[in-house]
Order: sequence, then structure tokens, then C-alpha cells
Amino acid sequence: MNSAIKAKIIEEKKRSDTLILAHTYQVPDIIDIADVTGDSFFLSKKAAELRARRVIMCGVRFMGETVKILSPSTEVVMPAPEATCPMAEQISPQRVADFRRENPDIAVVAYINTTAALKAECDVCVTSSSALSIVSKLPQKDILFIPDKNLGAFIASRLPEKNIILWDGYCPVHNSLTGADAAKIKAEHPGVPLAVHPECPPDVLEYADMTGSTSEIIKYALAREGQVIIGTERGVADFLNREYPGRFIQLAPEKLVCRDMKMTTLENVYGALRGECGEVLEIDETLRVRAKKSIDNMLALG
Ligand code: 13P
Ligand code: SF4
Repeated sequence: MNSAIKAKIIEEKKRSDTLILAHTYQVPDIIDIADVTGDSFFLSKKAAELRARRVIMCGVRFMGETVKILSPSTEVVMPAPEATCPMAEQISPQRVADFRRENPDIAVVAYINTTAALKAECDVCVTSSSALSIVSKLPQKDILFIPDKNLGAFIASRLPEKNIILWDGYCPVHNSLTGADAAKIKAEHPGVPLAVHPECPPDVLEYADMTGSTSEIIKYALAREGQVIIGTERGVADFLNREYPGRFIQLAPEKLVCRDMKMTTLENVYGALRGECGEVLEIDETLRVRAKKSIDNMLALG
């Protein structure tokens, strides 16, 4: 399907020396034309390693910003500029700055799903795959974790030696799941393990056989022989079922769709490659350098 436009994209990306990065939540057509696919931690590491002249980021804005923060000389283009992670702006940078002034001994940890302006106010960033290890290595006992209360609660449950202060942010997609959704699918598929993302609420995690990031869920699912229920955005089950059709069951398929992640299309990628649409990301240099510190700390500790 769509082979004509895919061939044109492949031709155009070679001609224009452009690297296409895609988060695993992207639609299968976008995964097909990407050079690198993975979770947010993997993409941010790749962005630092590969000194691309130009990157098309198939994902949401904070992912493009992360590439630009790490590789300022790379031209970073968002093919769907309106694709943002709603959670990334659920706390204002001013609020974090005020909190820091009032609580100078507390470490501020930001989930990578935050704007560059928020990263600039924090000590260190984490992704869902690196959060536990990074928070456990921080010297401070008291930690403000922004913005995801569910990921923060998950970290707090695994690291009882830390005092983690939660912000009331959440991913509207994962947070829409309920314990009843998890109980129902477990009852419908007795004995089939459930793997969930830590952005899900704690009462969903209670039913999980495994909790982990996008890449950890994929690793867990592929390491098992039989079926696995996938409790995260449906791009992950789509990705897994491409290779093993029908083996992976999507939990609540009607709820677990990130609208923003689906805004990238073959048409807008092709247009962005040709400079006809999309947005070239620009970040103020002082802000970029401040935001980079928290990402560098993540890469050093992670
Ligand atoms: P990962 O860090 O697991 O890629 O998750 C990113 C994200 O947006 C989850 O909803
Ligand atoms: Fe943001 Fe949730 Fe979409 Fe991930 S799934 S990009 S956290 S809204």
C-alpha cells in the first residue's frame, strides 16, 4: 500500500541527505520509510550519535526539540508541527523556577515529555526506560517529579528510600485506562500476561505482569512464546503484529490511540522533505544550553 509515495520519499531523503526518525507509536506506513525507529530514549541517543545534516522527526514536538537541543547544527523539521504531547506543557516553567527557589535542596526531575523551556528549569531528564535507574542514583532524597503523576508514582513505589513529590500531570491517552479495563481483558484472556506502560494509572498497574517503557514492552513481548496483552498506545501492538500477526492483543484499542502521534502522514513527510510544508524547529541558544544540561545529565546517569 502507498508504494508510489514511499518510493518517492526514499528517493527524496537520499537526494536531500535527510535522516527520518520515527517513534514506535507512528502509523505502520511511517515506520516503513523511517531510518531509525524506537522509543524516546533510543531516538534521543541516536540523535546525539548521528550527526545528521537534516532530520525529519515523525513524532511529537518535544522529540524534535530534544534532537535540536543535542544537535544544534542539524536542521530539524516537524512534518506535522501541530503534533504535540499534551502532557509536555502541564506545568509552567515559572512554577518550577518558583518551586526551586523555595526548595533549594530538592532535585527536580523532568520526564523527557516536556518542553525545552521546562527542561531548562530541571536538574535531570528521564525517560520511562531510564527513570528508575536515574532517580535511584541522585544524591537527593527529596525529589519533585514533573509532570506525569503516574510515572512518578511508579518510581516512588519502586524506590521507597526516596521522597517523591508528584505533580498532577498525566498522559490523557494512558490515563484514560481504568482498573476495570485491565480486569476485563485479563478475564477474557486467562493466563495471557499483560504488559503496561508506567504512564497508566496505579490501579491498572495492579493487574500488570510487567510494567515498562515502549522498548521494554517490545523486548518482553518478543521474549515470550505465546500471546501478550499490550497495555500502551496501539502503535506498539501494530508494530509487534507486523512480524507475528495476531499474537499481540491490544488492551482497550478504542482508548489507546495518541491522536498527536498519528498526525504524521506520508504526504506531510514528503512535503517536509521537499521543503513545502512542516516547521523547521528553532530554539533560543541560551535556552538550548540550559535544557541540554538536563539531557546531558540523563545521558551520563542513564
Ligand atoms: P517512551 O519513552 O516509552 O517512548 O514513551 C514516550 C511516550 O510518549 C509514551 O506515551
Ligand atoms: Fe504524550 Fe501520551 Fe501521546 Fe505519549 S501517548 S505522546 S505521553 S499524549
